[in-house]
Amino acid sequence: MNQKCFRVFATCDIGQSAFDLLRKRGYEVDVYPSSEPPPKSLIVEKVRSGIDGLITTLRDNIDGEIFAAGEGTLKVVAQIAVGVDNISRAEANRFKVPFTNTPDVLTEATAEFAFFILGSVARKLWPSEKLVRDDKWGYWHPLLPFLGAEVSGMTIAIIGTGRIGKALARKCLGFEMDIICHTLRREDRQFVSAMQTVADSMFEFGLSRRRTIVRYAPLDTALNSADFVSLHVPLLREGQSDNPTYHLINEKSLKLMKPSAFLINTSRGPVVDEKALYKALKEHWIAGAALDVFEREPLPLDSPLRDPDLEGRLRLFHHFASGTVTTRTSPDPNQGMAGRTVQGLIDVLEGNYGGNIAKMPFVVNKEAFLI
Ligand code: GLV
Repeated sequence: MNQKCFRVFATCDIGQSAFDLLRKRGYEVDVYPSSEPPPKSLIVEKVRSGIDGLITTLRDNIDGEIFAAGEGTLKVVAQIAVGVDNISRAEANRFKVPFTNTPDVLTEATAEFAFFILGSVARKLWPSEKLVRDDKWGYWHPLLPFLGAEVSGMTIAIIGTGRIGKALARKCLGFEMDIICHTLRREDRQFVSAMQTVADSMFEFGLSRRRTIVRYAPLDTALNSADFVSLHVPLLREGQSDNPTYHLINEKSLKLMKPSAFLINTSRGPVVDEKALYKALKEHWIAGAALDVFEREPLPLDSPLRDPDLEGRLRLFHHFASGTVTTRTSPDPNQGMAGRTVQGLIDVLEGNYGGNIAKMPFVVNKEAFLI
């Protein structure tokens, strides 16, 4: 065990067990005590005080000012999230600071949440519960007060076939759904072919009522064929990628969707142009949406998405997709985001993998450390 007393500042609590792992190794861990995000000036001050590691969340803006404050002392930024769009990769690379994230361990939790909120908006779970709670359920009637849209046997477009998109696709197989995949990266033909083999077997063994299709398609085809469109892409702004995802879903793309279709977003808010989505919902270009993420979080009080007219067709959640006890808090790096966060930090500070940062599994910006 490395006995050097590394100093770490965490911008929020990530759970006692994870911090205990660090403290047992002799680390000095300072945790921002409030549940509100710390002011940027405080993060800068902590970094300038010479900390070795900074633990961040997706709500912290980690930019050049922070990396400059830590020049010569800050050795790693460890983020408790898979998405890292709040960290400037260019500035991290300029200052040669590795940053880590928490992939894999949140894949199933996030994918199942996407499926659940899809079901929640399609089957009108909130209007139904509200009816009961408000004592407005006067009688049972086969048609009234409303009916939902069935999910089984429908077509889903999964935009983004990384870990989470693929996990959602696997779950959709059990609902006999046709699955249209779209990716801005390289198509994973092997995945689609394995999925099709399973779908065919389910049909042949009588476990599925019909032979379902799994395939890749261009975005326009995916959007205009699907009953459900679920987003699983990272947020990449203009200049960050040849295929930026900022406002990937906009007026044009929403107009391509069927009037009976639903949009599901558990990726990042700015992937969807919320003004366009509001218009699409208000004017019934699409049937509904379920959102776990927003252009501004928390959702502002004056957001048009709060329009009571949309309440029955628009589900809103508090960026909660990975929010299960095990996924968020397990100190085991193979199970929990907290464990993976501290492991990423330890790898860098203690020089695991022979000190070769480019080989450390949780480092995101490996390119800055290739020898
Ligand atoms: C959550 O949104 C994450 O990126 O982990």
